[in-house]
Amino acid sequence: MRNLYNEIKDQFPMLNEQMNGKPLTYLDSAATALKPLSVLEEIENYYKRGTTNVHRSIHSLGEKMTQKYEKTRDTLVHFLNAKSREEIVFTKGTTDGLNLLARCLDYKLKTGDEILISELEHHSNIVPWQMTCERTGAVLKVVSIDENGDLDLEDYKSKLSVKTKIVSIIALSNVLGTRTPVKEMAAMAHEKGALFISDAAQLVVQEKVDVQELGVDFLVFSAHKLYGPTGVGVLYGKKDLLEEMPPYAGGGDMIDQVTFEKTTFNDLPYKFEAGTPNISGVIAFQKSLEFVESLGFDAIQEYDKHLLNYGLDKLKALPGFNLIGNPKNRGPIITFTIDGVHTHDLVTMITMEGVAIRTGHHCAQPLHRKLGIVSSARASLTIYNNEDDIERLYGALKKAQELLA
Ligand code: ALA
Repeated sequence: MRNLYNEIKDQFPMLNEQMNGKPLTYLDSAATALKPLSVLEEIENYYKRGTTNVHRSIHSLGEKMTQKYEKTRDTLVHFLNAKSREEIVFTKGTTDGLNLLARCLDYKLKTGDEILISELEHHSNIVPWQMTCERTGAVLKVVSIDENGDLDLEDYKSKLSVKTKIVSIIALSNVLGTRTPVKEMAAMAHEKGALFISDAAQLVVQEKVDVQELGVDFLVFSAHKLYGPTGVGVLYGKKDLLEEMPPYAGGGDMIDQVTFEKTTFNDLPYKFEAGTPNISGVIAFQKSLEFVESLGFDAIQEYDKHLLNYGLDKLKALPGFNLIGNPKNRGPIITFTIDGVHTHDLVTMITMEGVAIRTGHHCAQPLHRKLGIVSSARASLTIYNNEDDIERLYGALKKAQELLA
C-alpha cells in the first residue's frame, strides 16, 4: 500500500496549524476538505495576476482566464466520463445543484406523481423536493434503510412504480458512510420511466465516478469536498434533458437575445449559468482535479480503507463506544456516540486537544430520528490523515470520557 499521507502531507499547510495550542488533528473532511498548495496558489494567482471577468471581456486577459475557466469544464468531462462539455454545468455546490433540479424538473410532474428519496438523505436532498411537491402536487416517498444503515433494495423496488417520475438518492451517506447501489437503482428507476439523480458529494472523493457506467441522468457534487474551493459545484446532466429543461436563474450570460417582451436563452451549459461565476474557484478547481488524478482512485481507496479499518478497530475498543451504522459497503466515515456522554460535551472537550470532528445531526435530522438519536459525533478520514490522527482521537476521547462520564 502506498502511504499517501507521507506522499502529500507537505502539500497541505493546514496540517501545520494548531487548535487550542495543540497540533491540529483534522478529522472533518466530510464537512470540507483541506486544500493543497496548488489550489491555494491558483486562487492567489487569479486575484494577484489574473483578475478579469470570463465570457464577456474579450481583451487578452479576459480571453486567457476564460480559457482557464473552460479548461476545468473539459477536465470534468474526462473526470466523469460525460459525453460532452454541454453536460457539465457549474453551480455553487451540491445544494445549489439539487435545488436547480428540484425547480427545473417541475415540468415533469403533475398532481399525484411521486418523487422517491431515501432515509439516508441530507437535508439538501429532502427540503428542495418538499418545495417541489408543494408547487406541483407531487408526493414525496421515502425508501427505508435496514438496521445496518444499508438502503433496503426490496423497499426501493416496492416503492418504485409508474407513478414515480424522479428518484434522487445519496450515493455515499455523509452520516453512516453507506455506499448505495447507484447503478442498480438507476437501472430500476429507468425501467419505470423515472429519472435518476445521484447526490455524489461524498462519493466523488472516494472512487472514480463514471456517469455513463452508472447510468444516471443527473449527478451533483461540490468542489470543496474534493480538495477544491468552496462555492463551486458541478451538475452533470444528460444533454437532451438539460436541453428541454427551462433555465433556473435569469441574468447575464444565460441569454441569447433579450427584449422587454421576450428572452431567448444561451446554448448549454451557459443556459444554467447566470451572472458572474466563482471564477477563481472554478480555475483553482482544475488544480484539485489534477491533484486527485495524480494520486489515482485505486491508491485513494486502498489508503482510506486501511485508515477506516484501523479507526474502527481502535475506537471499538473504547468502553461505551457505539458505532452508528455498519453498512456492507462504506466510505471512511465513523459516526458514533459514547454511553453517558453528550456528543456536544464530548466534542467541546476533544477540541481542547486539537482534534476536530463534527457533531450534531450532520444536516440529516430525519436519519437521526430514524436511528433514535438526537445527535452523533463523526470522524471522517481521508488521504492526509494517518494512524497517529486516530491515536490522538482515541486519546482525546478517552480523556474526555474519563472527565465527563
Ligand atoms: N454535508 C457536509 C457534512 O456532512 C457539510 O458535514
